[in-house]
Amino acid sequence: MINETELKKNAVILAIESSCDETAAAVIRGGREIFSNEIMSSCTEHVKFGGVVPEIASRAHTLAISKVVDSALKKAGFELNELDAIAVTYGAGLLGALLVGVSYAKALAYASDLPLLPVSHIRGHIAACYLNRPELKPPFVSLLASGGHTAVIYVKDYSDFEILGQTLDDAVGEAFDKVARVLSLDYPGGPNIERLAREGENSIKFPPMLKGEKNFDFSYSGLKTAVINYIHTAEQKGESVNRADVACSFQSAAIDVLVNKTIAAAKLKNVKTIAAGGGVVANGYLREKLKAECEKRNIKLYLPERGLCTDNAAMIGAEGYIRYLNGDFADMTLNAEAQVEL
Ligand code: KG4
Ligand code: ZN
Repeated sequence: MINETELKKNAVILAIESSCDETAAAVIRGGREIFSNEIMSSCTEHVKFGGVVPEIASRAHTLAISKVVDSALKKAGFELNELDAIAVTYGAGLLGALLVGVSYAKALAYASDLPLLPVSHIRGHIAACYLNRPELKPPFVSLLASGGHTAVIYVKDYSDFEILGQTLDDAVGEAFDKVARVLSLDYPGGPNIERLAREGENSIKFPPMLKGEKNFDFSYSGLKTAVINYIHTAEQKGESVNRADVACSFQSAAIDVLVNKTIAAAKLKNVKTIAAGGGVVANGYLREKLKAECEKRNIKLYLPERGLCTDNAAMIGAEGYIRYLNGDFADMTLNAEAQVEL
């Protein structure tokens, strides 16, 4: 274990991520500068099952992990003995998948005598906003929109969060994936709904979600059910459904509320900076809408580039660096956890 005086401001961290169907490794410096960011995905192996099959994902991680880590080190031009720490996602995610990354990182840290940093995948998505953005500092309001989480958070400091609101049931990405299935679109649903939505109109009014100036919570289960009911009712009446209009109307209903509540949260906290993260932040409609609303109000907006919104290891390195500065190291008893607190 290293002591505080040995902590380096420009620490170089190898980060490893294996919580779902992406095996990823990255080398980053000072939590912001990306030297390499490698990903291998087993996504195509899951398509015929309509969602991620945990066993298949875990086997794919086992096959990919050493290749991905070697490639991240090689592309960055670093040897293990030149690193300052190894960060790894320990949760939340699929247990068997997480265990591959955790075990690999533990073995590597032990063998190379490097400190091990335990990273929450959820916090990683929030920390992605710091990547390539040396000027971004708390406080700001963060929108977290992924397949597992939906929340509006007041980031007071790098590790000091106040959750202003979150989903009471399904996450927004989960709703995209479930609605995609009903529209016979392949997994992953989000990008496929976005594509189909471009051919449609926002012509169907789905019921509004948890309204109110100071209500920052979300409920995507109701919206999903409204879409399913709309399709079933039309089918029962023998009417044809315009799938592109359903996709477009659902996308608007799902995203507008995220944007509105994030803007309202910035107003409540009197901050002029918003940052966002999570797979759904790759959505073009969300990005454009959030940009437009922030511009109107002179709010500075930080959106990670699309590839840093969806699962990657650079974001684990960004959050790993915050853990590093906090002296929050793990020992060889580190275990994978399916759920972690936000
Ligand atoms: O953050 P992420 O990669 O994984 C976690 O859940 O942590 O998010 C995956 C989610 C999936 O539900 C996927 O459908 C959604 O993000 N997603 C999108 C888009 N790209 C990914 N949703 C809407 N539009 C997109 N372009
Ligand atoms: Zn994720």
